Amino acid sequence: MDIGIDKIGVYVPKNYIDIVELARARNVDPNKFTIGIGQDKQAVPQPYEDAVTMAANSADSILTAEDKQALGLLIVGTESSIDESKSSAAFLMDLLDLPEDIRSFEIKQACYGATAGLQTAVDFVSQNPDKKALVIASDIARYGIKTPGEVTQGAGSVAMIVSQNPRVLKLTRKSVYMTRNVGDFWRPTFSKTAFARGKFSNEVYVDFFNTLWKKYQEKYSATIDDFSTLLFHIPYTKMGTKALRTLEGKIPDTKYAELTEHYQASIKFSREVGNLYTGSLYLGLLSYLTNAAQSNEELLLFSYGSGAVGELYSGEIQAGFDTIIDQNSILKMLDNRQKMSIADYEKMYQIEYQNGTIVDPQAVNSKFYLSEIKENERLYKKLK
Ligand code: HMG
Repeated sequence: MDIGIDKIGVYVPKNYIDIVELARARNVDPNKFTIGIGQDKQAVPQPYEDAVTMAANSADSILTAEDKQALGLLIVGTESSIDESKSSAAFLMDLLDLPEDIRSFEIKQACYGATAGLQTAVDFVSQNPDKKALVIASDIARYGIKTPGEVTQGAGSVAMIVSQNPRVLKLTRKSVYMTRNVGDFWRPTFSKTAFARGKFSNEVYVDFFNTLWKKYQEKYSATIDDFSTLLFHIPYTKMGTKALRTLEGKIPDTKYAELTEHYQASIKFSREVGNLYTGSLYLGLLSYLTNAAQSNEELLLFSYGSGAVGELYSGEIQAGFDTIIDQNSILKMLDNRQKMSIADYEKMYQIEYQNGTIVDPQAVNSKFYLSEIKENERLYKKLK
């Protein structure tokens, strides 16, 4: 049975900051941020946006009534969870008007969460072929103002429906993975911002990619000629570039040029949005599908979550995928955002809603939003 991604949609906040302006405000040469880090814009969520609201927005962009009836599994991958007990998935039941006979939960393993969700969904559909699974990646990447990680922040959500006879990406079920206890990036429960050993995290990421690529070749007698495109987890776009460069000189120049050209198409959206943590790899997939992909292409996808888990797996783009993805709406959503000044971004960064907050719906710019915090419970609404 063929199983994989049948639909994929994205949500990004309506506000962004310009990376050149951020560089100037931090007294950094803008080339360091645009070339050295590889970013142009960074999505800035409003205080009434969080992992739940962004997940609802991305899922809402792809779900039909028919999909909802067929759902048997709902998984939210996030490391920006809003509750230590209740999963983000439970909040989505009302917001998205989902039927009750669904197994649902949240997965956390840094940026690997959505991939864990995707592979779990594939197993679920193989056992329940008439059912569909909804996997959502939703995160706000925060390192703090004036930190080295600030330029690698961002926010957004990617939603995917997994089913049999997928119309976007068939997963080949060829996959290699690894886990190592690594202190490259962490966020203790008391902290809103992450801590990272930045340079070390880069080394671990590249090492995981090289180790997994070797494993993949051995396990499946694969060569680079089996693939036309490599997609990477891209917390910032230079990161994937670094991993890709490790292949230079080890594979034919023409293949390296092809992979590099396709990689450029896969990072277009990330340059505009920034870090989605666990959604980053899937924003790259969507960028590639929107900007360059061809039917029947074989892709290799590298997922990495600090701490650290890595997985390298393959998929095949399905004929007619471009009729399933709502390319115009995605491009419009990116184009219609509003720029924020660095001063306004800094002010908004400090806002943290407390118990008793009531949000004025007139001031809201996202369909799903945090409406109130009552008895320390976060309550959500959909704009009428
Ligand atoms: P930094 O110290 O500000 O930057 O930290 P740098 O000095 O390393 O410079 C960055 C690059 O800019 C370098 O290029 C410089 O040469 C270049 P590279 O050597 O990397 O190729 N550069 C310039 N280029 C052009 N013109 C100039 C110029 N000046 C310098 N004038 C760092 C950067 C990414 C480490 C920091 O932002 C950080 O700590 N970020 C957070 C950690 C992170 O994103 N790590 C990624 C790997 S781990 C991961 O992917 C997991 C993660 O997604 C979390 C999760 O799993 O949940 C993050």
